[in-house]
Amino acid sequence: MATSLIDQYGRVARDLRISLTDRCNLRCSYCMPAEGLSWLPGPDVLTDDEVIRLARIAVQDLGVTEIRFTGGEPLLRPGLTGIVAAVAALTPRPEISLTTNAVGLAGVADALRAGGLDRVNVSLDTLDPDRFTTITHRRRLPDALAGLAAAALAGLTPVKINTVLMRGVNDDEAPELLRFALENGHQLRFIEQMPLDAQHAWQRDQMVTADEILASLRSRYTLLPDPVARGAAPAETWLVDGHLDAAGAPARVGVIGSVTRPFCGDCDRTRLTADGQVRSCLFAREETDLRAALRGDADDAELARIWRTAMWGKLPGHGIDDETFLQPTRPMSAIGG
Ligand code: GTP
Ligand code: 5AD
Ligand code: SF4
Repeated sequence: MATSLIDQYGRVARDLRISLTDRCNLRCSYCMPAEGLSWLPGPDVLTDDEVIRLARIAVQDLGVTEIRFTGGEPLLRPGLTGIVAAVAALTPRPEISLTTNAVGLAGVADALRAGGLDRVNVSLDTLDPDRFTTITHRRRLPDALAGLAAAALAGLTPVKINTVLMRGVNDDEAPELLRFALENGHQLRFIEQMPLDAQHAWQRDQMVTADEILASLRSRYTLLPDPVARGAAPAETWLVDGHLDAAGAPARVGVIGSVTRPFCGDCDRTRLTADGQVRSCLFAREETDLRAALRGDADDAELARIWRTAMWGKLPGHGIDDETFLQPTRPMSAIGG
């Protein structure tokens, strides 16, 4: 019988985020420097079999019902399709999703769908090729757009788009991005930038806030309260008056206001880094080394016990606005989005 990953505040983690690599083929300025980072050494990264074993324990022994693969950029992981297929074969079968920049998605969307991937979230901050190059330091907007279109065609739906707005860079583009998403049947969400960049350059007063994003959208669209309960989802959603989504339901737009509208009290996430560390929160100050136990002689029950203990100590909230706040030493790309 599965015993849940519960913390001392009563939150239950049913959503496991597995980072498959800390590497990326883009260099988003709010994430990492143009020259890249010093990547994890290969032997430190969990093998495909190790990832699959931990996913099985999470699903069968710890009550996890959703698995999201992230990175860095998870499409850079050579064994991705095989990992997805192995996780899709688990009983009970978890929901399987992927958060990707979509640059490499066009060629593999069908294979991933056939392997059992249910849906994707695509990070896309602009529709302007020059801006894309400024933000990501790579001229890959056509590839990202092709990946996005391929995801929808392959049925990896609903396709959600994640956009980080930056002041003076793309903060005027919210209504245009929403027009694009509505036209193509994708669900757009705007994310408040969090202090998780490798450069430690994040500034609270430079962040584009949820209130600003909503005001910008309302300059062109009427947003109505969403009658569907939000649950543990990071995104607060609104119905876009007069628009339908690809399935014929009212179209939605979301805002992930992690900083000004924190949702930590409802958090249902546990994270596994590419090098096999459990992080109970994006902002956890400590990690728990599952890889050492895995590569020692720990059996499944022992690995489950270590994971449960790691989650019990989860922080009540990220504390970004506290005076004592400390940015995690690992950047977002090495934690997993
Ligand atoms: P779905 O709505 O189920 O598709 O999932 P999601 O929104 O959780 O997934 P996604 O990986 O696309 O995450 C979107 C963004 O939400 C991330 O880039 C983060 O900015 C934010 N986010 C996800 N998980 C957490 C979390 O545990 N804490 C905080 N503060 N933000 C999170
Ligand atoms: N703050 C908020 N979101 C971020 N992402 C990357 N870095 C940050 C940050 N500092 C987002 C990306 C992507 C997801 C993996 O995380 O835009 O959608
Ligand atoms: Fe890569 Fe995502 Fe970081 Fe951009 S935000 S550099 S796509 S890991």
